[in-house]
Amino acid sequence: MKFDKPATENPIDRLKVVGHPHDRIDGTRKVTGTARYAYEQHDVVPNQAYGHVIGAAIAKGRITAMDTEAARRAPGVIAVLTAKEAGPLKKGKRNTAPLLAGPEVAHYHQAVALVIAESFEQARAAGALVKVSYETAEGAFDLAEAKDGAAKPEGDDPSLDDTQVGDFAGAFAQAPVTLDATYTTPDESHAMMEPHATLAAWEGERLTLWTSNQMVAWGVTDMATTLGIPEDRIRIVSPFIGGGFGGKLFLRSDVLLAALGARLAKRPVKVALSRPLIVNNTTHRPATIQRIRIGATRDGKITAIGHESWSGDQPGGGPEVAVQQTRLLYAGAHRMTAMRLAELDLPEGNAMRAPGEAPGLMALEMAMDEMAEKLGLDPIAFRVLNDTQVDPEKPERPFSMRRLDECFRVGAERFGWSRRSARPGDRREGNWMIGMGVASAFRNNIVMKSGARVRLDANGIVTVETDMTDIGTGSYTIIGQTAAEMLGVGLDRVVVKLGDSTFPVSAGSGGQWGGNSSTAGVYAACIKLREAVAQNLGINSAEAVFADGTVKVGNRSLSLASAAEGGPLSGEDTIEFGELDETHQQSTFGAHFVEVGVDAYTAETRIRRMLAVCAAGRILNPKTARSQVIGAMTMGAGAALMEELAVDKRRGFFVNHDLAGYEVPVHADIPHQDVIFLDEVDPMSSPMKAKGVGELGICGVGAAVANAIYNATGVRVRNYPITLDKLL
Ligand code: MOS
Repeated sequence: MKFDKPATENPIDRLKVVGHPHDRIDGTRKVTGTARYAYEQHDVVPNQAYGHVIGAAIAKGRITAMDTEAARRAPGVIAVLTAKEAGPLKKGKRNTAPLLAGPEVAHYHQAVALVIAESFEQARAAGALVKVSYETAEGAFDLAEAKDGAAKPEGDDPSLDDTQVGDFAGAFAQAPVTLDATYTTPDESHAMMEPHATLAAWEGERLTLWTSNQMVAWGVTDMATTLGIPEDRIRIVSPFIGGGFGGKLFLRSDVLLAALGARLAKRPVKVALSRPLIVNNTTHRPATIQRIRIGATRDGKITAIGHESWSGDQPGGGPEVAVQQTRLLYAGAHRMTAMRLAELDLPEGNAMRAPGEAPGLMALEMAMDEMAEKLGLDPIAFRVLNDTQVDPEKPERPFSMRRLDECFRVGAERFGWSRRSARPGDRREGNWMIGMGVASAFRNNIVMKSGARVRLDANGIVTVETDMTDIGTGSYTIIGQTAAEMLGVGLDRVVVKLGDSTFPVSAGSGGQWGGNSSTAGVYAACIKLREAVAQNLGINSAEAVFADGTVKVGNRSLSLASAAEGGPLSGEDTIEFGELDETHQQSTFGAHFVEVGVDAYTAETRIRRMLAVCAAGRILNPKTARSQVIGAMTMGAGAALMEELAVDKRRGFFVNHDLAGYEVPVHADIPHQDVIFLDEVDPMSSPMKAKGVGELGICGVGAAVANAIYNATGVRVRNYPITLDKLL
């Protein structure tokens, strides 16, 4: 189905099942431990062996010798795999550095070997006996130092281009009120709960991978490329994922090494990356240095806005797209954005938790707060004054829907914004200095082609199959709700099967496109199934009403299940998105409100209240959407106050490579959280009229926290995370 005209009224609009706060249909399995994650697939194939990954001990250079003899002779060891045993490998399109090093080493903890043994303990113990000799080369590990040599990112992706509208330099020079400030965000780690893990089994030439991966079809393609075998010999199964956050968008070493190890050992091999390996072996969110310049008239109209961002990555990698939102968020006739990429030999950077906007807004929305203060304007008033209904770089392109001003209005009222004092350090409760901050939330609504297959059997059970994944987001539930709505049955009549590459290719889970796109694919498949049902019942599908387990035409009512009496019926289709996405800018909007207390003597910061108001199209399930948003707000609190990978700039690695050293928020750090969804439907986004919402929840939170800290203390910290040492 091609989606190229605004959605008209359709069965989804009945909202009998869609739009309701159903519990997760996979929830019971998850909390009772019966949902099998990759490493727990104990009984899908017999004779499983365990692989233990050895990571490189240098950041850059080459392996000069490897002695694996002692490891091979250790108890229980079946085989040791290195680049030599692996033979020639290509690199998947989405990997920057090879997943297996040798002889060259591209980054610290790049995999150099896999020890395979009868038990995990034996594999790990033997791993300590592998001796690797290296020749170390000089590397670049310091973004600030490499910044001046950074270059324009290569590639044909237009989002990487510099943008210029009008005469930014001239307008900025002439503006009566200006801000020119530089902000930094650190390297960060996904820190998802479930480690990267894979069980690989060969059956002749065919490879099955039970793994934890957000993008099943990308994985098949990249694995086929890496191994040099046809895609149709690879099956990826990824039904449950204990968090991805972008770290599982792409194949990592667990998948490749499990596959190679299983081939070498001639039996199934399972591999999980240990927590200390994940940080340097897999991807991370790259650090940024961001310079923002804003010029405005005395009454607060932005005349010039410029955003430059520097980040680093491995050779051949890409930048953190931190300027993305600045192209679209505020009006202003003269504008520029630019990104520069430094070549660094730190581990590979890539997407993490709303890449681009999340760190970009941490800078931009602090700059907006600083600018509002210079102008003597309320931070909300300043933002609303510079709101726009069209793409500021291309005024002929309207937003499909944009209710940023309403997010602020609704939020200000709910949060009690009028109680905020404009003067920093004005409110005190005992030793606590109290402050409030806001920030805009912005994240683009990406739409992605997505397919599904839906089957109806004679018992009236509807089964949906798609390779869509559920990374904790609620995909199972909203997909089930969509099929139930379309076929007029209760959610309890729907079985949802996900995360298997033998199912139709979906949008996958990334960039907050999964919810809207994958349900739209299910919608398209259900239209096909409705046609098959109508045909079997000898009725006109356009006139048929599917409700309460029946199909009605006029005053005739037939049971839905009766259509499948002669055998199951199925419908399969893929939704494809046409030019609406080009004629209109599709984005999601929100407003974040935060109240903090800062201890006047220790500078300990405590978040006291958080509120997010989101305008993100139809909310398919307010309960799972709320869970997404409060989780994202929690990540935003982490980014503002604690998350930071410490870079060893001499040896080139992230030092705090575990959850003791890499701090993430715990329950005690997170106060009452409130989420409001504006009641809206966006007919430009899909037949579902929904949009992405998960990543919107993190976008802007960091700046709202920073702005609240400033309001509490009068201390402006432009280098995240805002730890107490920076406030004293
Ligand atoms: Mo998301 S960081 O695109 O999985």
